[in-house]
Amino acid sequence: MSAMNHLDELFSFLRIPSVSAQAEHAGDVERCADFLVEKLSSMGFDAKKHLTDIHPIVVAHSPEVEGKPTILIYGHYDVMPVDPVSAWETPPFEPTIRGGRVYARGASDDKGEIMALLLGTEKVLREDGALPLNVIFLLEGEEERGSESLFAFMQRPEIQQELACDVIVVSDTGMAAPNIPSFSYGLKGLCCFELKVSGPAMDLHSGLFGGAVNNPITALCEMIATTHDADNHVAVEGFYEGVHEIEAWEKESWCRVPGMSDAELAELTGVDALRTETGYTGAECVYARPTFELNGISGGYEGEGSKTVIPTHAIAKMSCRLVPGQNPEKVMDCVEAHFRKVCPAGVRMEFTRQHSGAAYLSNPNSAFGLAAQRALEETFGNKPVLVREGGSIPIIAEISQVLGKDALLLGLDLPDARIHSPNENMRVEIFEKGIEMTSRLLRLMGQL
Ligand code: BES
Ligand code: MN
Ligand code: MN
Repeated sequence: MSAMNHLDELFSFLRIPSVSAQAEHAGDVERCADFLVEKLSSMGFDAKKHLTDIHPIVVAHSPEVEGKPTILIYGHYDVMPVDPVSAWETPPFEPTIRGGRVYARGASDDKGEIMALLLGTEKVLREDGALPLNVIFLLEGEEERGSESLFAFMQRPEIQQELACDVIVVSDTGMAAPNIPSFSYGLKGLCCFELKVSGPAMDLHSGLFGGAVNNPITALCEMIATTHDADNHVAVEGFYEGVHEIEAWEKESWCRVPGMSDAELAELTGVDALRTETGYTGAECVYARPTFELNGISGGYEGEGSKTVIPTHAIAKMSCRLVPGQNPEKVMDCVEAHFRKVCPAGVRMEFTRQHSGAAYLSNPNSAFGLAAQRALEETFGNKPVLVREGGSIPIIAEISQVLGKDALLLGLDLPDARIHSPNENMRVEIFEKGIEMTSRLLRLMGQL
């Protein structure tokens, strides 16, 4: 099939606005699942759409090849919201090629990667007449909102049986540079939560009552200020329980990842200097140190001009990125206990837990891992760098644990792909190489 046909298929996929977080797009998300069922069926797979309380899960099996390994390919067909839509140079759901890149929401995360896996599989079918092994596609529509339905789905014994495999393959992570592939052997875990601090029963005039009552915004800020110490360690009791030190070979390997030096990270992010945890480089913090982040804060008057008010409440949205050894629920227990301890008099606090998932770590040098490294090297012409990801795919640790198999993370998202941002893109060349990499991977794994 020609490159143009590859792009046509990607464009059809990208045109479906499968935003999982927004109720108005529920029909589009389902249409996207139907699109995948149709594509997989046309490839001879036995494909099925499983409805859930939120968005469908697509499962598809290739015709059975006896005595050969089974690989389970995971991906997510949902995308992040597009706002601010005015910052897009071309509309997010009208894929457009500019300067050798496809621009659209999902171009990299994760539709471009899924389509590369699908078309790479189809390439083997077309060129070799059949697949050299068993392939199962597991494609969900809720990753960008926490994979609630897939967590429940993976608990079902009949599903665990149906998805039994030898290895899991995922293309939903980063890639160091256009000619330097990444083999990621770890993902961070994640837990998200919200803290609401409430004070007076109604908004108050800050002259009539100021100085006499505690201001919820001030109280919230005081509480937040206690979460880190001067060395930028997280100052929450129990937070680091179970965390392992970074191994010497990892530190050594991460020094050489293109774009990940402290100077390059500062340049890429537009800051004048990094602020890392004392004793660790930026790359080490991103890949392997747990973090505590503020993602949003609101309260009081945020409109035009000024308004002298003491507001009734203030809210902070927060999340922690976790490393292997940390348990998301226990971390949230520690954080909640910390906030209860430092919550000052005159306000009340409410702590709400949102979605979470554990970190993932695997052995990069298993037989399947080495085959994947070889497929990457043969496709991109350079050995892959071995990295851990700062990002999360919360369901991966669960799938790996439930099925008892490793997940290989072979991502194609370049640092400038702008995933989750306006003008998300994928280089056409990387998309084509993703197709080639998939075909090499299937052929190599078929020999194991
Ligand atoms: N594909 C990303 C994760 C990713 C991207 C990992 C690049 C490594 C490199 C995934 O879709 C994602 O955005 N995950 C979210 C978590 C989700 C629950 C919102 C994240 O990491 O914030
Ligand atoms: Mn993704
Ligand atoms: Mn994402």
